[in-house]
Amino acid sequence: MAIAVSEAVVGESEVISYNSPGFKGLIKEPYIFCLACFASIGGLLFGYDQGVISGVLVMSNFAKEFPSLANDATLQGWMLSILTLGAMIGALFNGPISDKFSRRWSILYAEILFLIGSILQCAAMTVAMMFIGRLLSGLAIGMTSMVIPLYLSEIAPPNIRGSLVTLQQLGITLGIMVAFWLQYGTQYIGGTGDYQSQAAWRLPLALQCLPCLILAIGTFFLPYSPRWLMQKGREEEALQTLCRLRRVSPDDHRVQLEILEIKVAQKFEEKTSPSTSKNQSSIRAALEQYWQFFRTSHLRKRIIIACALQIIQQFTGINAIIYYAPQIFKAVGLQGSTVSLLATGVVGVIDFLATIPAILYMDRWGRRKVLIIGGIGMSISQLIIATLYAVYKNSWSEHPAAGWAACAFVWVYIAHFAFSIGSVNWIIPSEIFPPAVRGKAVGLAIASNWLSNFIVALIYPRMLKAITFGTFYFFLAFCLILIVWVYFFLPETKGVSMEQMDQIFGGSSAQENIQLMAEIRDELGLSGSGKVIGEEKVEELDTSHVEKV
Ligand code: BGC
Repeated sequence: MAIAVSEAVVGESEVISYNSPGFKGLIKEPYIFCLACFASIGGLLFGYDQGVISGVLVMSNFAKEFPSLANDATLQGWMLSILTLGAMIGALFNGPISDKFSRRWSILYAEILFLIGSILQCAAMTVAMMFIGRLLSGLAIGMTSMVIPLYLSEIAPPNIRGSLVTLQQLGITLGIMVAFWLQYGTQYIGGTGDYQSQAAWRLPLALQCLPCLILAIGTFFLPYSPRWLMQKGREEEALQTLCRLRRVSPDDHRVQLEILEIKVAQKFEEKTSPSTSKNQSSIRAALEQYWQFFRTSHLRKRIIIACALQIIQQFTGINAIIYYAPQIFKAVGLQGSTVSLLATGVVGVIDFLATIPAILYMDRWGRRKVLIIGGIGMSISQLIIATLYAVYKNSWSEHPAAGWAACAFVWVYIAHFAFSIGSVNWIIPSEIFPPAVRGKAVGLAIASNWLSNFIVALIYPRMLKAITFGTFYFFLAFCLILIVWVYFFLPETKGVSMEQMDQIFGGSSAQENIQLMAEIRDELGLSGSGKVIGEEKVEELDTSHVEKV
């Protein structure tokens, strides 16, 4: 599949730069940095709710309250999976919702659902209440998992877009870590045996309402995405919001240029998207847009990239570890449940800490380099875990050092996952699509993440039983696929403005589109010279890998 790049169009673009990438860039943009940290509370809820349930399920008081659940492994499996299935639906539907009602208000809708879901879970008297609560929370988590990276991408200046979107992953890992250590503590309320109090599991489920409420209230103070405003024809507001976000006056040449670029992209979309008749229902119009992903070559390439990244991410085995870490550590011979639980707690801490370098360096190193380095580290780790498992699977107890080595390489795997594909999978889908289809495309991509998450959680225990160490070789295969696929097929998108993505993926490369783009740019007075406008030069648009996609 080759994406042709139009040099004519690339040459005409001006690269707008507000500041440097990385830590310096974040510090110089305190307003947008704070906004992104705040929006990442959505990620925290995702990680927390995903992480909290496995600990709750094994608490003795929970088993006393819900004996039918405690004694039925299949029902327990569904209790875990209903969240992922709900999230898949939530992500898919939130594309059109966030297009229609705005990114900002769709965050609020999700938080309302999450609040109801959490209340049902912590107040559950019956298994049905628990299930409905998990489903509603799942829907909400799916919605926020797609809209927060989308929102952050749309408000971010190109130089720190990767860092800002990675804050969502930092939120997720923080949530997983807090959930683990919190319930590690609350399990002692009333003692761990027969006298364990209900608070041991109701409290961690109830506590998630607090950040949820904070995020819900905060949405009233979040600005709209300027790109969404432009899409809705609210041009004046888009300019004002952009000025607020960039903390410059409306006559700043960079902000003027940026708003013009957004407008050009919008106009180009309007002129090239299939026209929808006034009588066409909004459902038909939305379906027509989904159909575009398969029919239009450059959109097809982008959606394949966005979904492949999600599927590969999940099949490298991350959630086999996140969900089943205590069992894995026990299986490799770590003695005692406390030891294996502590080893699991370390997974959470490493996952969190190793996300920080991604925030600092994503926009310097670029998505490709980060993914390849991470993929190599993950491959080596999976190879060692699988081989140790193959050699010592019947004699772990005689070889404690081998067990600890396997445990250490689980940690090494997590660290490499966290700074690479754990973070990049949110960035790429939210930055590569043109405005008219962006919401739906991100929804589709993130839904494929949740679907793969569901499949891995479902097959992992069965695979471990059937092919034992082969399971880790299976995950290794996907780590290797990641390296090869990124090397040959993934274009670099760091520092590229969202409006320039067309030049990378070929949306404006057909001869008639080049002409049309030139006309629109002329019409809006944007026939540029290819110069860099701003304080620090952003690297030139790297199109070297595009030919091969
Ligand atoms: C993945 C989740 C995973 C988490 C762990 C995310 O990027 O999408 O499925 O549980 O990372 O940190």
